[in-house]
Amino acid sequence: MSKIRVLTVFGTRPEAIKMAPLIKELEKNSDIFESIVCVTAQHREMLDSVLNLFEIKPNYDLNIMKANQNLWSITSDVLLKMKEVYEEVQPDIVLVHGDTTTSMAAGLSAFYAKIPVGHVEAGLRTFDKYNPFPEEINRVVVDSLCEYHFAPTDTSIQNLKDAQINMKHAYKTGNTVIDALFYIVNNKEADISYLGLDKTKRTVLVTAHRRENFGEPIKNICHSIIKLVEENKDIQVIYPVHPNPNIKNTVYKLLDKKERIILTEPLDYAPFSTLMKKSYLIMTDSGGVQEEAPSLGKPVLVLRKTTERPEAVEYGTVKLVGTEMENIFNEADNLLNNEIEYKKMSEAINPYGDGTASAQIISILKNIKC
Ligand code: UD1
Ligand code: UDP
Repeated sequence: MSKIRVLTVFGTRPEAIKMAPLIKELEKNSDIFESIVCVTAQHREMLDSVLNLFEIKPNYDLNIMKANQNLWSITSDVLLKMKEVYEEVQPDIVLVHGDTTTSMAAGLSAFYAKIPVGHVEAGLRTFDKYNPFPEEINRVVVDSLCEYHFAPTDTSIQNLKDAQINMKHAYKTGNTVIDALFYIVNNKEADISYLGLDKTKRTVLVTAHRRENFGEPIKNICHSIIKLVEENKDIQVIYPVHPNPNIKNTVYKLLDKKERIILTEPLDYAPFSTLMKKSYLIMTDSGGVQEEAPSLGKPVLVLRKTTERPEAVEYGTVKLVGTEMENIFNEADNLLNNEIEYKKMSEAINPYGDGTASAQIISILKNIKC
């Protein structure tokens, strides 16, 4: 029997991190699979850094990123350019990940070409169309056009059922981000002394990038950080700033050169993982960080109104704190000063898997031609 030709398509940093273990697993099984990788490069530097770390050399690079790009240009570029790739590669299956506009447009383009699509990290929902924007609707679109659904948790399986998705090929696998994190933490621990952290202070790690946090919310987040360092002399805040100008300009304007606040470029995944491990508390609007931090025993305050990761809230590893300045400050200040509360969050169990999601997905894909 001929090999199963799997075309993996992704474009941003988190997709690359979460698809990397799967690509490695496909490569390990090269007697069964022919693995072809296409990056849209919706992100450029942040994508390349992950490709380098995991030593992945894409077969196709659409190189679409433009400075301060918009949803229309990403969608139309990916939709059209993927048509040519699909025509040339003629894969047995296309794999896309999560909820980015790359995933939505690459999935739609495959659907138009009548190629089966597998969705890694299927079934996440907030049920709020504009939170996160545009990811919630991207998820709905991708889930409805896919044949194969690899859902991380029971909740995401249930969401697929509730959306009347055909469950013939829907599987609970855990999240591949845990595979990636374990691999990096065990094999590539990075020296982060260059960041200049003060070892005598507790470290609060911050990231934020979401479109719905542009404007007032990101300003509120910055003001809460200022108050937090003013009121807690034994902490330092480190914030790797996303390069999106809508975030970067505001964050640098409000936080640059402030005492005990370190702003950096986005970090490569290895130093970022080490930094998560060494942090006391994490404040973020990131999806991936909500899944990773609990594996490292770090409490997360989620700087958003909603989350598609309700399991983490239920298990007590993350807390949704919104984007109002006073609330963010109060919740963070409480965790910094209330040991019982802190211990409860840091010792909770991670619901996102045990590091075997990629192997589980690959064993399912082995049967797609039977
Ligand atoms: C995108 C995804 C979001 C995901 C996030 C992860 C969409 C609509 N958004 O949002 O779901 O959570 O990635 O980070 O799919 N930029 C660079 N270099 C890079 C990457 C970005 O300079 O390597 C700058 C560019 O000016 C770019 C801008 O950031 O135009 C925005 O990038 P974009 O992918 O549109 O949005 P993100 O906020 O990164
Ligand atoms: N991350 C990283 N460097 C950073 C910030 C985040 O490597 O400076 C990693 C993080 O560990 C996680 C992923 O990037 O695996 C999350 O990406 P992001 O927050 O951009 O996207 P989201 O998960 O919200 O879609």
